[in-house]
Amino acid sequence: MTTTTAVTVRVPAKVNLKLAVGPARGDGYHDLVNVFHAVALFDEVTVTGAPTRATGGPDSAAAGLSAEDASGGGLASHLVRVPLDAGNLAWRAADMLAREIGATDPVHLRLRKAIPVAGGMAGGSADAAAALVACNAFWGGGLSREQLLEPAARLGSDVAFPLLGGTAVGTGRGEVLAPAECAARLHWVFALSAGGLSTPEVFAAYDRLYPAAPPPQGDPELMAALAAGDARAVGAALGNDLEPAALELRPALAGTLEAGRAAGALGAFVSGSGPTCAFLAESPEHAGRIAAAVREAPDCVHTVATHGDVPGAAVL
Ligand code: C5P
Repeated sequence: MTTTTAVTVRVPAKVNLKLAVGPARGDGYHDLVNVFHAVALFDEVTVTGAPTRATGGPDSAAAGLSAEDASGGGLASHLVRVPLDAGNLAWRAADMLAREIGATDPVHLRLRKAIPVAGGMAGGSADAAAALVACNAFWGGGLSREQLLEPAARLGSDVAFPLLGGTAVGTGRGEVLAPAECAARLHWVFALSAGGLSTPEVFAAYDRLYPAAPPPQGDPELMAALAAGDARAVGAALGNDLEPAALELRPALAGTLEAGRAAGALGAFVSGSGPTCAFLAESPEHAGRIAAAVREAPDCVHTVATHGDVPGAAVL
């Protein structure tokens, strides 16, 4: 096993084009049909050697973690929500990989964040996926992307997807992935909320609202619209079963969604468990107009205009 001095991995955020949620399972999770779409909004994770193993405990390979804002200021206040210890999924990813491949050299993880924190765009999961790829390269673990999917799925339901990127359908609790075709570049606006939402709390609210939810179904119309590259048809098929639960917990999101609809968005919905709202635009210019409109909504603190899909985690 050889070690290098530093490895940086860039990893995309995701938006769920369709999130169909079934009833609560016995294990605390929900069966999903989850259409993931990677967008050009990236975090970077850099792994370097650390002189000592420290706060993570004697079995921890991660000896330190730092996080900084790479959003141009929009996320600076969100960073207080990033755990800087074993509470961070990227730290746990480093530990899991060390056990998997028998690595013993301690590492430091540096996170440069542009993906909203606790925003429903899987930023924490993306960082964990990036940490797996970066640590694998740093320690010379030699695991293939395919081989990283399994530890990724054990870390969390959304950690495997950023290893693939593109567009993919997730089933099971979201971690069983089948790549899907997206034939057009889709233009997006994301509106960041003043607050965060806890994923378990949003799922719990969903259970209260829908105590007898049916099993989740795929959406052939959405998949056909994606394969045809028909943004208008994609917009008509977008949907998120968690949206009513997110709106119950954060009613002000309704004003953000309405502002985007009024600006002619092809689709307006809460991303994942929220509170980030997503808007599909016809063009980059249209995205600019939607962003200007939703910035006026009381709950919106920042907007990002970008596109998808994009490839998954990559070593720079
Ligand atoms: O898998 P992950 O740790 O990201 O999930 C976080 C939480 O989200 C779970 O503890 C659970 O409350 C909820 N969840 C769920 N069903 C899923 C995925 C997540 O209920 N398929």
